[in-house]
Amino acid sequence: MKKIALTGIKPTGILHIGNYFGAIKPALELAKEYDARYFIADYHALNTVKDPDELRDNIRRVAAGWLAAGLNPKETIFYRQSSVPETFELTTILMAFTAKGLMNRAHAYKAAVQDNLDKQNDPDAGINMGLYTYPVLMAADILLFDSHIVPVGRDQTQHVEMAHDIAQAVNFNYKAELLRLPEASIQEQVAVVPGLDGRKMSKSYGNTIPLFAPEKELRKLVMRIVTNSQAVEEPKDPEASQIYLLYKLFASPEERQTLAVRYRAGGMGWGAAKEELFRVMNRELTPLRERFDAIMADIPALDALLAEGAEKARDIAGATVARLRKAIGID
Ligand code: TRP
Repeated sequence: MKKIALTGIKPTGILHIGNYFGAIKPALELAKEYDARYFIADYHALNTVKDPDELRDNIRRVAAGWLAAGLNPKETIFYRQSSVPETFELTTILMAFTAKGLMNRAHAYKAAVQDNLDKQNDPDAGINMGLYTYPVLMAADILLFDSHIVPVGRDQTQHVEMAHDIAQAVNFNYKAELLRLPEASIQEQVAVVPGLDGRKMSKSYGNTIPLFAPEKELRKLVMRIVTNSQAVEEPKDPEASQIYLLYKLFASPEERQTLAVRYRAGGMGWGAAKEELFRVMNRELTPLRERFDAIMADIPALDALLAEGAEKARDIAGATVARLRKAIGID
């Protein structure tokens, strides 16, 4: 029997190249070895996305994005969190085992409070209960599916540890292994993905390159990458150039070698380096973009695919909740 890997994808924005190398590719790699359960965490997104059209669109785009990038829904159970109501029943059960103090210590909540204090606002300003209890909902997502490992970025490891602790509290109370204790599997950034301004590519910096940008837009964005004022004839250090760091992610070893030599020799300007980057990027992203556009052109088919995933998910989730209800005496 394969072990179970589960992760949630919060549909709060459009996917970019940083997501592709930092989260999507490693998770798809993991799905080859594990029994994978990947889902769209739409109720987590509700905490911040309050516009219905935007949320609806984000959910479809993120789901289509993962499919276009290679998620195989025949092998990986792929579903929307909102389609698995057992999640919310388990959340209620877990609430009774979650110390309020544990939630007070959650980094995301603490950062929001600190931000208010820094601005001399009321410490609770703009903080909803969804943000405060975010780790409990996430624990339910994880524990519902008997997950062994949870591939996440560093910022989410504390949440997985909390899920572990909450599960332990339940098991301890009933003196039974009712819930499997999950472990985070940290997705070390395989490589740093620099953004347009040279800082780490991130939505919060506004320096991203969308994964499915049309070819023309992709080219425009590549041409906008910030460079220094070195002249064409000057020799350049490839490793100090974000153009080259991005290039490395898309190019073959031979191509990498060749471009590094051209950098060091001098005589190549930033414009030429960008052209070369655009070429390899567009080569890899064109088939993804075409699959993405095809999936987005048939939303009913996408919704049906997600509904199929939800059905499989609910079989597992229903069994977990039944087991819990029996153990707690609400059966
Ligand atoms: N909180 C995660 C994020 O912001 C998304 C998420 C929701 C998740 N539920 C999860 C991740 C369960 C792993 C497991 O990225």
